[in-house]
Amino acid sequence: MSELNLILLGPPGAGKGTQAERIREDFDLAYIATGDMLRQAVAEGSDLGREAKRYMDAGELVPDAVIIGMFSERLRADDARDGFLLDGFPRTIAQADALGEALMELGRDLTGVLLFEVPDEDIVRRISGRRVNPGSGRVYHVDFDPPKVAGRDDVDGSELVQRDDDRPETVRKRLAVYHEQTAPLIAYYEERGLLHPIDGTCAPAEVAEHVRRSLATLQREQDF
Ligand code: AP5
Repeated sequence: MSELNLILLGPPGAGKGTQAERIREDFDLAYIATGDMLRQAVAEGSDLGREAKRYMDAGELVPDAVIIGMFSERLRADDARDGFLLDGFPRTIAQADALGEALMELGRDLTGVLLFEVPDEDIVRRISGRRVNPGSGRVYHVDFDPPKVAGRDDVDGSELVQRDDDRPETVRKRLAVYHEQTAPLIAYYEERGLLHPIDGTCAPAEVAEHVRRSLATLQREQDF
């Protein structure tokens, strides 16, 4: 069976991380989430983490040179050889070009880009109710996707927290940055015939069903 090399695209809070958990259960893909990688660097207090935190807390993008370097190394790791799922990368045209060049060097292709469409007015409500397990990155929502025990992770029971960049004013800034710097990727991937829009406003299980159908079609087309 051919490898699946996928990108999850969409505004902050569109449900990329939520759906990534489900996709990873169904397909054996290396999960590369630049936001998670940066938060880990922040938690470790590394130079990269200290630099990234300033941008993340302000709702801005970490500079392309930093992200592209970090990403390129991760793409070449052994577990990414048979397929990958990118969440939060690329986020600028420069990052998309760098990804294209890296894949060309490796003799590989992108399979598809899943675009989660959710209007801005839903985003702030989603993000203000988000709770995460900082260790595993597992995501919940106090109303829309609650854990079995309030404030505790379903799998390992650890305490759920709110992300530092989930304050309403930072969320508004992140949305503005998305529209200005990341949304141009929609046309970029549409022109390359790779874009697959998904209605992200339905319940998580329904969105997951749409994703499964899209991926099944993509896999059939690839194997044909
Ligand atoms: P990152 O961690 O990538 O954040 P993001 O893209 O802003 O995305 P989020 O994680 O906020 O949202 P999501 O779409 O995963 O939604 P989720 O599933 O959690 O990046 C953080 C920062 O790092 C950036 O601002 C930037 O500074 C930096 N960075 C990262 N990558 C970078 C790059 N490539 N270049 C430069 N800088 C970079 O869902 C949200 C909530 O809604 C949850 O509570 C969930 O339970 C709930 N929910 C999910 N689906 C549904 C549904 N269908 N209905 C109702 N509620 C739902």
